[in-house]
Amino acid sequence: MDTFEVMRTAFAARDYTPRELDDATLYRILEHARFAPSGGNRQGWHVIVLKDRHLRHQLADLMAPTIKQYKAQAMKGETPFSSVHATHVTQEEIDAMSPEMPFSSQLADAPAALLVTVDLAKVTAFDQSLDRVAVVPGASIYPFAWNIILAARNEGFGGVLTTFLANHEPEAKALLGIPETHAIACLIGLGEPVKQLTKLKRRPVDEFATVDHWQGHPFNG
Ligand SMILES: Cc1cc2nc3c(=O)[nH]c(=O)nc-3n(C[C@H](O)[C@H](O)[C@H](O)COP(=O)(O)O)c2cc1C
Repeated sequence: MDTFEVMRTAFAARDYTPRELDDATLYRILEHARFAPSGGNRQGWHVIVLKDRHLRHQLADLMAPTIKQYKAQAMKGETPFSSVHATHVTQEEIDAMSPEMPFSSQLADAPAALLVTVDLAKVTAFDQSLDRVAVVPGASIYPFAWNIILAARNEGFGGVLTTFLANHEPEAKALLGIPETHAIACLIGLGEPVKQLTKLKRRPVDEFATVDHWQGHPFNG
């Protein structure tokens, strides 16, 4: 496929046809995704191919409390789990939510599911001493994760990533034997989308790019 077409149409595919995503195709997806960049080219990623459905259910169960809180916050108009603003939801509001989210229920049955971890011992975190949540370390793992989705799209498949599991990382790490220095980056579901979207809703460039200053005039090419 044309590169720009892949980039413009790799949507969050959560509903899949029963078509199998065989190991040879999955291998080819990872074989291309591995050309992602990482700080110092240290490539701290590890992928666990989740074949065991029971294990996938266990991971979905671990995400359930986080999903409930996320939904309660979203319902109140908050950005869920914001590191900037405190939450005002009550435990009762959280308890009232169902533990289902788009994708969480599909995880167990997705034709393929991957867990991506990153070795923090291999990641530079220039922003670790700032008085805010660290962003820079993610730059050494999410390009790889996104490359998996792009490569899947190129193969006629699609996927979605979720980061909910990170909120219960210790339990997930124990379940999967993930080493101490690794962090859970995301879960990825892959399969043939029931419907391939082609027009994704995204802000136009001149809404988010400015010249020379945050409040500079819009960069419009
Ligand atoms: C960091 C991150 C976390 C995400 N988590 C979830 C998730 O938990 N569940 C889900 O269904 N989609 C998840 N998504 C997909 C987003 O919802 C999706 O990219 C966005 O809504 C745009 O959808 P579209 O590409 O179909 O237009 C996540 C995407 C990112 C980048």
